[in-house]
Amino acid sequence: MNILLTGGAGYIGSHTCVALAQAGFHPVVLDNFSNSSPEVLARLEKILGRPVVLERGDILDTAWVEQVLRRHAPAGVMHFAGDKAVGESVAQPLKYFHNNIGGSISLLRAMASVHAAQGAWTTPALVFSSSATVYGDPASVPITEDFPRSHTNPYGHTKLVIEDMLAAVQRSAPDWRVGVLRYFNPVGAHPSGLIGEDPNGIPNNLMPYVTQVAVGRRERLSVYGSDYPTRDGTGVRDYIHVMDLAEGHVAALQHLLQAGESFTVNLGTGLGNSVLEVVRAVEQASGRPIPYQLAPRRAGDVAECYADPTRARELLGWKARRSLQDMCTDAWRWQSANPDGYRTGAA
Ligand code: WQD
Repeated sequence: MNILLTGGAGYIGSHTCVALAQAGFHPVVLDNFSNSSPEVLARLEKILGRPVVLERGDILDTAWVEQVLRRHAPAGVMHFAGDKAVGESVAQPLKYFHNNIGGSISLLRAMASVHAAQGAWTTPALVFSSSATVYGDPASVPITEDFPRSHTNPYGHTKLVIEDMLAAVQRSAPDWRVGVLRYFNPVGAHPSGLIGEDPNGIPNNLMPYVTQVAVGRRERLSVYGSDYPTRDGTGVRDYIHVMDLAEGHVAALQHLLQAGESFTVNLGTGLGNSVLEVVRAVEQASGRPIPYQLAPRRAGDVAECYADPTRARELLGWKARRSLQDMCTDAWRWQSANPDGYRTGAA
């Protein structure tokens, strides 16, 4: 079975390609490489022992997306394509509304058009890459899927709007099967060290920043806030290994294909770790000291955010199983083998 991955050359998409192939599916990567590297395809071929099919183009080109759907007739579509930097979304909201919401509208219209034209081709199962950001500043933790949603930045707003669009499409066409996956904090890398997180410019997120300090690309980490009401005063998050996340996507797809029912689940470990605990785990994984300075809180940050992953376990039979130390060990292996990400590194 072909599975189309929009943004499939990105961080989560590339790792999901591996998990899909290992589960017997045939991933087809759709990407314009605006926020990823063509080198990822070569790395995936090394991991899988065979090439991954690539469709290079822009998801906003609806007619082209229709051609891709007709060419590959995927049993499922996984929608990763979109911009995801919270800070950038505050500075450039229209870029985020255009690319994330406009891109999703284009994809959904292409899917609906091909389905209507071909009739017999059942509407593919759609897995959407959502985010815990839709919970805004949660009133308590752990977070369940029925918590109220809100947005504190344009990026999170786009995820919330796309979730609502998917709900409206399902109400209009009940044969659509949609799985909404709300990620907490994906970190780490495939254990081969061949693929991993490779943010453009200065990393917004904690883990890539810390591993870049460890490898000598950054001088020191700024710890944003040390006066939060947490066990050590620094922010607590639900870090989840990207391979656990990828396996969660496969479980979600299999449920959509077999049970045919739509759902929304959190993909997290249900555990919270602080910034300083992550720093110590990377020091242990790398054997390198991580210099840091305590800095003021970052605007928009919350003290604690971690999942209640019960529904994913009960509905999908999926549970994250890799530890924080596994995440840091695999993140370090990727970073140390690829100090400048895909621009250099051991191919
Ligand atoms: C984690 C903790 C920071 C950087 C974001 C998005 C979310 C999702 C994951 C896409 C916080 C602290 C960070 C640094 C620091 N992305 N920190 N120094 O903010 O929980 O979530 O990424 O879906 O949508 O909002 O992740 O990694 O940025 O921050 O002290 O240089 O690390 O204050 O406590 P966050 P993060």
